[in-house]
Amino acid sequence: MGERWTPKSWRHLPIEQVPAYPDAAALGAVETQIASFPPLVFAGEARKLKAALARVGAGEAFLLQGGDCAESFDEHSADNIRDFFRVFLQMAMVLTFAGGSPVVKVGRIAGQFAKPRSSPTETLDGVSLPSYRGDIVNGIGFTDESRVPDPRRQLEAYRQSAATLNLLRAFATGGYANLENAHRWMLGFVKDSPQSSRYQDVAGRMTDALDFMRAIGINPETHPEVRTTDFYTSHEALLLGYEEALTRVDSTTGDWYATSGHMLWIGDRTRQPDHAHVEYARGIKNPIGLKCGPSMKADGLIRLIDMLNPDNEAGRLSLICRFGADKVGDHLPALIRAVEREGRKVVWICDPMHGNTVAAGRYKTRPFERVMQEIEGFFGVHRAEGTFAGGIHLEMTGKDVTECTGGARALTADDLQDRYHTYCDPRLNAEQALEVAFRTAELVKAERSHVERPRLDAAE
Ligand code: PEP
Ligand code: CO
Repeated sequence: MGERWTPKSWRHLPIEQVPAYPDAAALGAVETQIASFPPLVFAGEARKLKAALARVGAGEAFLLQGGDCAESFDEHSADNIRDFFRVFLQMAMVLTFAGGSPVVKVGRIAGQFAKPRSSPTETLDGVSLPSYRGDIVNGIGFTDESRVPDPRRQLEAYRQSAATLNLLRAFATGGYANLENAHRWMLGFVKDSPQSSRYQDVAGRMTDALDFMRAIGINPETHPEVRTTDFYTSHEALLLGYEEALTRVDSTTGDWYATSGHMLWIGDRTRQPDHAHVEYARGIKNPIGLKCGPSMKADGLIRLIDMLNPDNEAGRLSLICRFGADKVGDHLPALIRAVEREGRKVVWICDPMHGNTVAAGRYKTRPFERVMQEIEGFFGVHRAEGTFAGGIHLEMTGKDVTECTGGARALTADDLQDRYHTYCDPRLNAEQALEVAFRTAELVKAERSHVERPRLDAAE
């Protein structure tokens, strides 16, 4: 790895998961064009998220990160974004109120388009085609034409990200996220669900608390934290040409920031220490995530931490663990012990989705109980090691899809065909996501109750 980092120093290194663009000149032209576009997020916002994540690492806040496995061009509507944001706010409220912890909110949204694939080809009825790599690269349709990587898709992804972010910013600060609206965030189809009365109960208790606060002079007019929320975006930094084009110098500090999203993560398939993705990520100052699957070993992890967070900055590096419900107990303790032994500051996040994917006929699914078991296992290991379970990273949607089995409605493998809409991996539907929030809130509450910590100021 070269010593001197630049936004394009990754280009000299070996790289995994690169799309085979047929026309290099057309790709270059698109990258040049994107390099002239405005940034989507600002350095100061990324720094604010880093500071919030530092609190998560210290056990003073909890991270909720979630969204689609893959955003798509076809499903880009205000309804989808609103439904996602609404269930996300509900989950955050449950975690804050029932879990008793400030919640840092980070969507897998407004840029989560590029997908790493286990196999370069996909075979259907004896026909093999290049794999779908996310809407930013090629089309999901199973035809030769659609699977050819098209650089113009990057322009579309940029514009969609900008529009999505614009709406999210409006929701977060324009009144929709006002805690006084908590009762109204209830989604139509969740109303008659088992989660509904539980949610209304929490919202009711919070409304009582707000009434009390209003009575003593704390209200949304005087206290913006009641009326607005901080919401951040994140995605996998996979398509490095696109990321490079949006990497900009922050004029106030002279540092480089990725401006495609607030937090970027390195996937489990592209975290080779001497390869391109780690090189790119090491030079940007944003908070970075690193996916850690079962093949991550303690010494390899410490080497990656050295590269990605050489100054041991709090909030800089989140380790997003995705071992599988049956493996978390085997793999996590060794990683935690190495990190503790070396005195490294990291944020421990549980991704209970990617290690729990199973086949059900022609569908990929994830059993709800396995998802919960991995979260419980994650908290259990942290408790035993004396460290903090910092947050959860979910693939979820605000829609009533049928992609993961189980949950309060006990979806079965036969139900999957009803509304299986994902472009990539199976997501929790709104009801299942809310159920995860309730059950995780209990774990957060238990975790926080047996550690001494200073009283916190305003909740996020
Ligand atoms: C993902 O988050 O969608 C993903 C591909 O994860 P991982 O890199 O952990 O497999
Ligand atoms: Co996924």
